[in-house]
This record gives sequence, structure tokens and C-alpha cells, in this order.
Amino acid sequence: MMETWVILGATSSMARGLARALADRGAGLLLAGRDMADLEATAADCTLRGARLAEAVKFDARDPSTFGPILERLGKEDGSLNCACFVGSMPPQADIDADPSLIEGVITDSFTGPARFLTALAPMIEARQMGCIVGVGSVAGDRGRVGNYVYGSSKAGFHTYLSGLRNRLTRSGGHVVTVKPGFVDTAMTWGLEGMFLVAPPDAVAASILKAVEKERNIIYTPFFWRYIMMIIRSVPEPIFKKMSI
Ligand SMILES: NC(=O)c1ccc[n+]([C@@H]2O[C@H](COP(=O)([O-])OP(=O)(O)OC[C@H]3O[C@@H](n4cnc5c(N)ncnc54)[C@H](OP(=O)(O)O)[C@@H]3O)[C@@H](O)[C@H]2O)c1
Repeated sequence: MMETWVILGATSSMARGLARALADRGAGLLLAGRDMADLEATAADCTLRGARLAEAVKFDARDPSTFGPILERLGKEDGSLNCACFVGSMPPQADIDADPSLIEGVITDSFTGPARFLTALAPMIEARQMGCIVGVGSVAGDRGRVGNYVYGSSKAGFHTYLSGLRNRLTRSGGHVVTVKPGFVDTAMTWGLEGMFLVAPPDAVAASILKAVEKERNIIYTPFFWRYIMMIIRSVPEPIFKKMSI
């Protein structure tokens, strides 16, 4: 079956891992993001690996005028139309506390920008009666905590959006996978203190591809974060509000 994937936020090392794995199986790829030189390099790598198509395309979550051309380009391909979204930003919570105007940017990058793009993509999946959307959220969206509650709330919003989108697309043969990574060794976490059980980005990419193949609904990656978050969610609020985790 011919498949084409738009990878939003394709400069992320997790996204690059998924793009490479999809290239290995001959998929078509539209690598979307802001850094065109980086995306072109990944496109060249994916072509060498066997991608049927690998093109760099401009995507800025804060500039919806970049969305239409990607969808138009995608619509020219035959077969299934798919999208994996890795877009997100996490400025230090202390910077946001000092300058609340940063909140809109975080919410746009991690939630509303991707949601607007995916909502425009949904009818194309419905029309073909097939296609998969992967939305990368975060364990940070499972409970608000002092260290990153704006980022966490953007991911919580994205999780809820993805749940509803899955409910919508399942009626026409489409599928949505929600991915909740724990700590991953990427640009976003570089130099951050307090990281533990940090996963390599390629392992996360492999678990995402497996989840797509098995049509999983929600995955934690690495898997043990499901149990860590079960415990964290079960801490009563009077205790949780005093914790610094
Ligand atoms: N690393 C972790 O521990 C961890 C844990 C849980 C969830 N996540 C999530 O995993 C995803 C990938 O993150 P990462 O860890 O690989 O970090 P990353 O390298 O910083 O990836 C974030 C991606 O989002 C893109 N982006 C940010 N703002 C954008 C905008 N306005 N328009 C278009 N693209 C934008 C970045 O593009 P540029 O290269 O142009 O900045 C980059 O491709 C994110 O959604 C993140 O929230 C990460």
C-alpha cells in the first residue's frame, strides 16, 4: 500500500528517527519545519535509504499560511495520507512566570498550531477512508506540576484534542495514535537538571512505528512511564501540591 507521511517538526531527533524508519520501508515523506537546511539534509538521507519521495517543506506552527501548501502537496499523492506531529516548545517555567506573554507561543507550538493543521487534514483522511495521525504529547500533560505547568497544560490540551480526533476519524477508517514520551535525550532536554531514565530518540521512534502498525491508541514510551504516571496521578492533591517533582 502506497503511504505518504507529513512529519511536522522533522528537525526533532525523534522525528528524524521515525522518518528514517519510514524511508526504510519506502514511504513518501514531506519533512516539515522551520530549518530548511536541516530538513534538506534529512530528506537527502531518507532518499538514500529508499524513501519513494522525500521533500523538505516549510511549516511554522505560529504561521497558519504555511499549512495550506503542505496539505495541497500531500493531496497530490496516491494511497494513504498520514501525519506525525513532533512540534512543541518548552521554555523554562521561570521565564514564563517572569513574562506571561510567552504562554501563547507555547500553547500555539504544542497544541493549537498542530491542532489547526490536523483539523484541516482530517477531511482528506475521511475522503480516502484510511490514514494515520501520530500526535506526540508528553507525560507532562498527565498532571500539572510546578516545574513546567504551562508546557504540561498545552500537552494536556493536545491529548484531549487527539482523543476527540481519534473518535472522529475511526468512523471513516482513519486512526490516531497519542504518544506520551517520558524523558528523551534530545535538544529539548539538553542540559536540564533532574532527568532520569532518559531514553534514546531512536528507541522512541521505533516504539512509535510499532504503535502505528498495531493501531494502538495511546502509548507511553518507554512503556514503564505508564506505571510511573499511574503513581504520580494517584497522589492526592493535598500532598501533590507540596511536592517538587
Ligand atoms: N525530549 C523529551 O524528553 C520529551 C518528552 C516528552 C515529550 N516530548 C515532545 O517530543 C516532541 C519532540 O521534541 P524533542 O525532544 O525532539 O525536542 P526538539 O528537538 O526541540 O523538537 C521540537 C520540534 O518542534 C519544532 N517547533 C517548535 N516550535 C515550532 C514552530 N513554531 N513551528 C514549527 N516547528 C516548531 C522544532 O523545530 P525547530 O528545530 O525549528 O526549533 C522541533 O522540530 C515535542 O513535541 C516535545 O514536546 C519531548
